[in-house]
Amino acid sequence: MELIFATHNKNKVLEIKNLIQKNIKLLSLSDIGFKGEIIEDGKSLDQNSLIKAKYIKSKYGMNCFADDTGLEVHSLNKKPGIYSSRYAGYPINSNNNIKKLLKNLSGFNNKNARFRTVISLIINENIYSFEGIINGKIIEEIKGNNGFGYDPIFIPNGYNKTFAELSLKEKNTISHRSIAINKMMNFLKKNY
Ligand code: IMP
Repeated sequence: MELIFATHNKNKVLEIKNLIQKNIKLLSLSDIGFKGEIIEDGKSLDQNSLIKAKYIKSKYGMNCFADDTGLEVHSLNKKPGIYSSRYAGYPINSNNNIKKLLKNLSGFNNKNARFRTVISLIINENIYSFEGIINGKIIEEIKGNNGFGYDPIFIPNGYNKTFAELSLKEKNTISHRSIAINKMMNFLKKNY
């Protein structure tokens, strides 16, 4: 079976290509020649991941999946959530996003936060959803150089290092995204 991963992020595609079972041929958006942007105007991670998967499914008629991730901070009513990448506006800049988050969170004692990933998978006419969550807390100073996005200010529960201080391999074994991906892989192995 051929399966499209509806993302332009080459690292994400590579990560999954190495994990996916042999009878599934994973194709990226560039493999199928799609260069456009899909407008993510949903109100939740679930809606946005489904919008992306449905768009590609309807345009190309091929089975596909898409992911969407957000950082949900308890004291900020789960913000930035779906706005995580563009929290401080355009052009997208992780440092500015972090600065804005720390400013908005200053004064709150509760620094609990979680990363949440939702994957929407469409096979034939069936829609499946997989969620991955990692709980942790936000720290007030930036620590570490690895990773991306909010990694330098997020410490996962049970650790005393930020995501940006963990190696990519360590992060990938516990991350929200890997939890969701593993759930989808197990589902595919059982059913396809
Ligand atoms: P996306 O849906 O994977 O593109 O993620 C949306 C935004 O959430 C990214 O632009 C980052 O700001 C943030 N984000 C997602 N995953 C991570 C992560 O693993 N570490 C830090 N930030 C992340």
